[in-house]
Amino acid sequence: MEGENEVELIGLVDRLEAEGILEKGEWIELLENYGEREREYAARKARKIADDIYGKDIYIRGLIEFTNYCKNDCFYCGIRRGNQKAERYRLSKEQILSCCESGWKLGFRTFVLQGGEDGYYADEWYEDVIQSIKELYPECAITLSIGERSKKSYERLYQAGAARYLLRHETANEEHYGKLHPKEMSLKNRKKCLMELKEIGYQTGCGFMVGSPFQSVETLAEDMMFIHQLKPHMVGIGPFIPHEDTPFAKEPQGNLSLTLFLLSLIRIMEKRVLLPATTALGTIDPNGRELGILAGANVIMPNLSPVNVRKKYMLYDNKICTGEEAAECRGCIDRRMESIGYEIVCVRGDYKEA
Ligand code: SAM
Ligand code: FES
Repeated sequence: MEGENEVELIGLVDRLEAEGILEKGEWIELLENYGEREREYAARKARKIADDIYGKDIYIRGLIEFTNYCKNDCFYCGIRRGNQKAERYRLSKEQILSCCESGWKLGFRTFVLQGGEDGYYADEWYEDVIQSIKELYPECAITLSIGERSKKSYERLYQAGAARYLLRHETANEEHYGKLHPKEMSLKNRKKCLMELKEIGYQTGCGFMVGSPFQSVETLAEDMMFIHQLKPHMVGIGPFIPHEDTPFAKEPQGNLSLTLFLLSLIRIMEKRVLLPATTALGTIDPNGRELGILAGANVIMPNLSPVNVRKKYMLYDNKICTGEEAAECRGCIDRRMESIGYEIVCVRGDYKEA
């Protein structure tokens, strides 16, 4: 009976809140059968949990996309090494410091250095850049998002002053991982990196794309269970969006409603987690980021990269905020958050321990 099924699904959301975990079969049932009613119910619960811990504050992270060279060939990604059409660029230390300077003036207290896996920059270069940023802005937090590295390298960059690391696991299912990546990449190594990052002491973020090709409710159930097991400080999820010059050019983009539902479920499961409303979410819907916040997210990551390189860091088609000035981005985000009753705050925005 439909009515009974609805009650049962709502019961699963309640159980997730109370116990912080569901069994695989329950995840599958919930994700396969949910409707608008369950999505709204979960969003209200998620928002209440986030409000109780983080109030009406929304944290911002200034994203500096410093290289689009990459040695990897992930099938979904616009800057994969196999994309001959990508116009490659690298930022110098001076250019990165200049992004930080304008970001600091705009109130950013976290800088995220993100890039492809670019062998051009050695550990020494990263150490120098990290130390220079910390000398100029001791109160800021530095987040790295530069892919898989050795434990030794992660340790060195942590010692230099990086406090956080984002490394999406992409999918927790081996077979699915193999369909998104070439043979030389492995889920095993991805997971190993995540464990090492946590061990070293980084505030660590995992995550995945919603609606990536070959994803299923089973693989999503495994993603949720992996997140619960890893206990990350941050979880980055956003819809998959095809890029025209990749093998997945003709695949459909991820679904808005499912992305929002998963954001809420992640908030309900991992109550204190730092959860961004991603640029990809803002790309598939003009109000995507506002809807993400209302579903339980509490972080926004505006682009601080120099305007002339933004179009070159094209992970997927039609990426937003690739033409504006950094200052405009900040004003725009302020207004968007105010319009839904939230406020951007100029703090580091660390994970709040219980
Ligand atoms: N190289 C680093 C790494 O692998 O973690 C950071 C850069 S990588 C481009 C950042 C994230 O972008 C990936 O983890 C992936 O989930 C996301 N991404 C790549 N292509 C995408 C696409 N077509 N649609 C949505 N997200 C995408
Ligand atoms: Fe390396 Fe996307 S394939 S950043």
